[in-house]
Amino acid sequence: MLLRVEEIYDFAARILSETRFKHTLDVADWAEKLAKHHGLDPVKARCAGLAHDLAKELPMKDQLSLARRWKLLHYPEDERYPYVLHGPLAAYWMEHYYKVEDTEILAAVASHTLGRPGMSQLEMLIYSADLTEPSRDFPKVDNLRQSLYDDLGKGTLACVERTLIYLRESKRPIHPLTQLTYEDMLRRLNLGT
Ligand SMILES: [Fe+2]
Ligand SMILES: [Fe+2]
Repeated sequence: MLLRVEEIYDFAARILSETRFKHTLDVADWAEKLAKHHGLDPVKARCAGLAHDLAKELPMKDQLSLARRWKLLHYPEDERYPYVLHGPLAAYWMEHYYKVEDTEILAAVASHTLGRPGMSQLEMLIYSADLTEPSRDFPKVDNLRQSLYDDLGKGTLACVERTLIYLRESKRPIHPLTQLTYEDMLRRLNLGT
């Protein structure tokens, strides 16, 4: 890997606000712990955790124009709700400007907000760690943490389901990718794949 964990750490420390950086470290620590527990690569988990929100604090108009330039807009909702773009933007940034070649890490960064059908285990890990890192506080978050510890697939399905319920209850838009992710996770668990 051309880019080392420390370099991503330093980059995140430099460009993110204190609060966002703390969240980033919490996601990286929790993702690393879960990775070790489930026999996944803890270094990849840590890299993806450190990189996942690197683009989040760019002004929204810049996120949108970069996503246009880098051809990362795939759904009408991407333009309508550009706050969903920071994952794909960070992944593109890492790949093209910081020469991160590991496609697993890049995919985990890209899909951390919305998920996608066919997520790898590392993608599930980062998606779920982002939602359940230690400073997240919402009803039954401990159940989600335990569920992720017991079974990464089932735990991730529970995380996607919780996100859909939260979006519905708060009358927020549901991106088609999140709905598709939920259906895919459900189908895969039923099939045992
Ligand atoms: Fe994010
Ligand atoms: Fe995050």
